[in-house]
Amino acid sequence: MGSRIEWVGESCGLLGAIGAELEVTRPFAGRRIGTGIHLEPKTVALLLTLRRGGAEVTATGNLGTTQAEAVDYLRAHGITVVGGPTTDPAEHDAFLREVLAAEPDLLLDNGGDLFIRYLDAPYEHLLGGTEETTSGRMRLEPRRAEIRRPVLVINDSPIKQFAENKHAVGQSVLESFLRITNRSTNGLRVAVFGYGACGKGVAQNFARACADVAVVDIDPVLRLEACLDGFAVPSRAEALAGAELVMTVTGAQRVVTAGDLPSLRDGVVLANGGHFPTEITVDEIVADGSVHEVRDSAQGIETVVLADGRRVHILTHGFMVNLNGPRPLGNSIGSMDLGFALQARCLEAVAVGQVGATDCVVPVPRRIDQQVAEAYLTLRDQAPGATRPA
Ligand SMILES: NC(=O)c1ccc[n+]([C@@H]2O[C@H](COP(=O)([O-])OP(=O)(O)OC[C@H]3O[C@@H](n4cnc5c(N)ncnc54)[C@H](O)[C@@H]3O)[C@@H](O)[C@H]2O)c1
Repeated sequence: MGSRIEWVGESCGLLGAIGAELEVTRPFAGRRIGTGIHLEPKTVALLLTLRRGGAEVTATGNLGTTQAEAVDYLRAHGITVVGGPTTDPAEHDAFLREVLAAEPDLLLDNGGDLFIRYLDAPYEHLLGGTEETTSGRMRLEPRRAEIRRPVLVINDSPIKQFAENKHAVGQSVLESFLRITNRSTNGLRVAVFGYGACGKGVAQNFARACADVAVVDIDPVLRLEACLDGFAVPSRAEALAGAELVMTVTGAQRVVTAGDLPSLRDGVVLANGGHFPTEITVDEIVADGSVHEVRDSAQGIETVVLADGRRVHILTHGFMVNLNGPRPLGNSIGSMDLGFALQARCLEAVAVGQVGATDCVVPVPRRIDQQVAEAYLTLRDQAPGATRPA
C-alpha cells in the first residue's frame, strides 16, 4: 500500500508547481531554514518544497503533534529532524534550542517558539522568517523592537483566515469529534468558546451537522456577529451548564478550568481546537479535589469521574483535537496547500530581500495573497479534463 505522505504530496498541486519553479530560481541556495511546525504529512510537502528551492532544512515539531512516520520520511529525504514526538515541554524546549543552535538564516515558526528563543541568544545573520499562527503573532508583537527583521504572519492573510481557519478547522474539528467519540451531532448541545475565524468555522460545521450550537466570546462585537449568524449567545455560565460538548478555539489560556467542574453536566465532552493545550486546564482538572477517579475510556478519551458521580470526558488531553487521537488527519490538504503556498512565497520574499526590517510581524503582503489566489484558480481551471461552465 502507498504511503499517505505521498498521497498528500501528490494532492498539493500549488506546492508542486511552486517547487518546480523554485528548483530553477533557487532562492534558498546556501541558506538554512529552521522550522518548528507540526510534523505531519502536509508539512512534509512544504519542507520538501523549500528543499527543492535549495534550502538546508533543520526541523522540529510542535508540542504533542509530531508524527513518527513524517519524521522518518523527512530524514529519508534529506531533512535534518531534531527529536521526535513528545508531550514534555522541557524536551520540546531542548529540541527548539537545538534547531536554533544550527543558526538558521530563516525561521519558519508556529506559535512563536523559535523567535522567542532566538531572542535569548541572537545572531546577526538571521534574515527573518514567517510565523504561522495567531498565538505566535500575539507573542511576537511586543518583541518587534528586538527582532528587527522581516517576520510575515501567515495567519493574517485573508486566504489563511477563510480557507484554513474558518472552513478547514471547522471541518476537521467536526471530523475529529466524530472520529474520536463516534457519537452523533444531531441535536447535540455544543458550546463553542471563541468566535474568531476558527470558532466561526467550528460553529458553522456543527450547526450544519444538525447540532444545537451556542457561542461564547469575551468580545461583545463577536457575540453580536454570532447572534446575527443565527447562533444562541448565552452567558458563559449558561453555556457551560447546558453544553454536552464544550469546544475551545480562542488562542487564550485557562478558558475552561477546574473551577468550572461544579457547573458541568454529567457526560459532557471537553475538547480544544486552539493552538496551545492550555485553553482547558486538563492537568489541574484531573488533580482537582472533587475528582474521584480518572480513567482512559478509549483512545483519545479520558474520563474524569467526580465524587458526586458526574462524568467529564476530555478529548486528547486538551491538545489540538484535530491533530491528535486515533489516526489524526488535521486540516484538509487543499486548505493547507494554500496556506503553505503562502509560507513558501513569504520565505522566498524574505530570502531574496523583497521585504525589510520594517515588515516585522506584519501580515502577508497583498501581492503574495493575489499571486497565490491567482495560481490556485488557474490550476483548478487548467487541470487536464477540467471544464469551465459556459
Ligand atoms: N486546530 C487547528 O488546526 C488550528 C488552525 C489554525 C489556528 N488554530 C488556533 O485556534 C485558535 C483561535 O484562532 P483564531 O484565528 O480563531 O483566533 P482569533 O483571535 O481570530 O479568535 C479568537 C476569539 O476568541 C475570543 N476569546 C478569547 N478569550 C476568550 C475566552 N476566555 N472565552 C471566550 N472567547 C474568548 C476572542 O475574543 C476572539 O474572538 C488559536 O490558538 C490558533 O492558533 C488552530
